[in-house]
Amino acid sequence: LVLILDYGSQYTHLITRRIRSLSVFSLCISGTSSIQSIADLNPSVIILSGGPHSVHAPLAPSFPDEFIEYVQSNGVYVLGICYGLHLLVQKLGGEVMVGEKQEYGRMEIEVLKGGSGLFDKGVDDRQVVWMSHGDEAVRLPDGFEVVARSQQGAVAAVENPARRFYGLQYHPEVTHSPKGMETLRYFLFDVCGITAGWKMEDVLEEEVKVIRGMLGPEDHVICALSGGVDSTVAATLVHKAIGDRLHCVFVDNGLLRYKERERVMETFEKDLHLPVTCVDATEQFLSKLKGVVDPERKRKIIGKEFICIFDAFAQDLEQKWGNRPAYLVQGTLYPDVIESCPPPGSGRTHSHTIKSHHNVGGLPKDMKLKLIEPLKLLFKDEVRELGRILSVPVGFLKRHPFPGPGLAVRVLGDVTEGNALDILREVDEIFIQSIKNAGIYDSIWQAFAVFLPIRSVGVQGDQRTHSHVVALRAVTSQDGMTADWYNFDHKFLDDVARKICNSVRGVNRVVQDITSKPPSTIEWE
Ligand code: XMP
Repeated sequence: LVLILDYGSQYTHLITRRIRSLSVFSLCISGTSSIQSIADLNPSVIILSGGPHSVHAPLAPSFPDEFIEYVQSNGVYVLGICYGLHLLVQKLGGEVMVGEKQEYGRMEIEVLKGGSGLFDKGVDDRQVVWMSHGDEAVRLPDGFEVVARSQQGAVAAVENPARRFYGLQYHPEVTHSPKGMETLRYFLFDVCGITAGWKMEDVLEEEVKVIRGMLGPEDHVICALSGGVDSTVAATLVHKAIGDRLHCVFVDNGLLRYKERERVMETFEKDLHLPVTCVDATEQFLSKLKGVVDPERKRKIIGKEFICIFDAFAQDLEQKWGNRPAYLVQGTLYPDVIESCPPPGSGRTHSHTIKSHHNVGGLPKDMKLKLIEPLKLLFKDEVRELGRILSVPVGFLKRHPFPGPGLAVRVLGDVTEGNALDILREVDEIFIQSIKNAGIYDSIWQAFAVFLPIRSVGVQGDQRTHSHVVALRAVTSQDGMTADWYNFDHKFLDDVARKICNSVRGVNRVVQDITSKPPSTIEWE
């Protein structure tokens, strides 16, 4: 295991992903975790991430006091990146100061020593890298050597091979450091002696084992299927582990897309052979959402209603089987976990909750069902790979993500007002079908329409109208953590906008959302 200690850098999750892409399992935990939590994971390599702090800041996050002794006595390799390098230097008796020249962005470094712990023999001695630091290591601890310097003369890479300490001032994990992956690969495989071999097949086997181990032979489990990739893969995995003791429920909460219920139920039955009960709870959800405009309240209400339905479903099953299911399967992914609960004390600049994802932060505290979340350490592309191994149809695996709170976070304001939901469904369907017809669905991470709570003046059929405005959003992304807006060609946009205004009653204006994440989020609420 390669363990990443997170000190709040915006790139921390990227390090995890990059290392996994080398077929090496990596996990990320808070940089201030206790030595016991670190030791429990038994890592062979620890990477100290970057972070927004200066090591001299009063509340600068750090590893626990026993850390150095632990890594030394357990033969663990340590690589500090940016802030992680500063931390290592400071704690081992060197000195870190505010640099004379701060280094942000693209920078050239000179490799002084190939064939070292960070650079293979024969690497380019000049490399372009991505820097982002104000502080600088000005005096190294005993036994350390500088193996690369920036074009401005600052320390760019250091090492103390005898004690297995290494440090990079730049970010090898970002694509703006073109040789960064080469450096990480060389460090992990050639220097630390890690073997690549982490595969989704192993994850599947391990998860099946864990689920079988945690459940007694009589335990029954329920799973909420949303029709999305994550819950479907999670259900298929649990079904493989425990067979018919898994009972799936699909909830029509009145916030689904056009014909979603019919389409999804057909796939579950025909292609996936999953046992699914469909519950129509439209009234229950919409009556609770009436008059609610605050996005967080909407999310909390929806999360709570889902849990009430799962509880009732569990009760029905208890009557049928004489055994109340004690577990609920959820398709929670790693980014949901990271975003909803940033590690405490990680120094993450957004240490507040960005959004309560209904399946993470929105769960009521008194929920009786215990959770099984077999995907909670995986990124989306890894889940798709797992689904492929589980024979989930590829077309299904390529579906764009759809948020648990459904169209409630895409109708801004009160979702029950007028026929907003129906209008949105029609607009969304036209948009998505046009994208499919244009053959670009798979190049887009997510596309959808948003119903805006405003009206604008238009002229349709020689008549003045005062009708609704809808926004179209399509983004590209790797994992939903960051995203860029998708650049459609103008003819496509022109056709879609015309089609929407001509065929959806009550809409006279179409706008496009051209913001990335950050500063926006993907969903509007
Ligand atoms: P945001 O809007 O946070 O979305 O940038 C990132 C990704 O997460 C999806 N999303 C959710 N998924 N429950 C979910 O299961 C939620 O409450 C939720 N909110 C957002 C969103 O569609 C995007 O793919």
